[in-house]
Amino acid sequence: AMAQRSSPEEEYAGVVSSLPSYPKLRLRHYQGMWLMEYTLPGIMAIQRSFVPRRHGDVVLASPGKCGTTWLKALAFAVLARGAYSPASDRHPLLRLNPHDCVPFMEGAISEGWGGKIDELPSPRLMSTHMQHAALPKSIADEPGCKVVYICREPKDILVSAWHFFRIIEPDLSFQEVFEAACDGKFLTGAIWDHIIGYWNACKANPEKVLFLVYEDLLRDPANIVRKLADFLGQPFSSTEEEAGLVTDIVRLCSFENLKSLEVNKMGEASFAFPNASYFRKGKAGDWKIHMTPEMVECFDTIVKEKMHGSGLVF
Ligand code: A3P
Repeated sequence: AMAQRSSPEEEYAGVVSSLPSYPKLRLRHYQGMWLMEYTLPGIMAIQRSFVPRRHGDVVLASPGKCGTTWLKALAFAVLARGAYSPASDRHPLLRLNPHDCVPFMEGAISEGWGGKIDELPSPRLMSTHMQHAALPKSIADEPGCKVVYICREPKDILVSAWHFFRIIEPDLSFQEVFEAACDGKFLTGAIWDHIIGYWNACKANPEKVLFLVYEDLLRDPANIVRKLADFLGQPFSSTEEEAGLVTDIVRLCSFENLKSLEVNKMGEASFAFPNASYFRKGKAGDWKIHMTPEMVECFDTIVKEKMHGSGLVF
């Protein structure tokens, strides 16, 4: 009989289980980073054999809990606007969660449905939480492959991550998430390394990496939507501007609108997180009600030190 090809999850199970582990956050230590265990087979498979398309792939990258869901919705609406008017009451984002429109690469591959990614039409729109240094050369070097990065005020990342992770680990305290993060243990590796890696990549090659910040998006979403369209090589025409397409996209993807949709209230996405868990508060500065002055002082000091000289401030 022919040998059956195994899924990355099966193929890498042995390697993954041999890595140092931090069970409290379900992390394993790999290539110098603490990473979500369930994504590791996907990461390993991507590093080994991901092939970008010459005619354009778009990878949305983030450390997680930074507005990835929002960015997915916006990028999808921008790129699909020829086929689906953002004002249409039949827009896919009205019946699908943004994560079902834009697959999470290492998650999908780990779970054995990486084939879906091969089937996407060009330009493929995909997402990753991999750090820049961990991306395969094929993504980092292929000029046709564009990367859009989103991050946010690091203290708000912690707060958002804690609320999210509590869905599967109800006993986890904020203190525990905080202490782990100070120690470089976060879902996608040390937060500062994640941010600085893409920040430097953007500085080195702004045509290839667009660096976005959640708080800027909250302040002026229309401006960022235009930036995104320009960067993806599909700027809004004056006709589109006059027709109000930018406003329509902002409205379609707004927190209030997406959160209120039936699919996002009820739907059960993969990885045990219900769709609703991706729409919590949608505001900047929630850290103020979760962190003591000591925690703030301690975390700010670490972040400042790590980001020193990068030119990046939050
Ligand atoms: P909070 O937990 O601070 O509310 P990710 O998508 O990377 O997992 O990030 C989730 C964060 O983005 C959550 O932050 C969530 O509420 C917020 N978010 C999701 N959709 C949004 C939208 N359309 N507009 C603004 N914020 C959004």
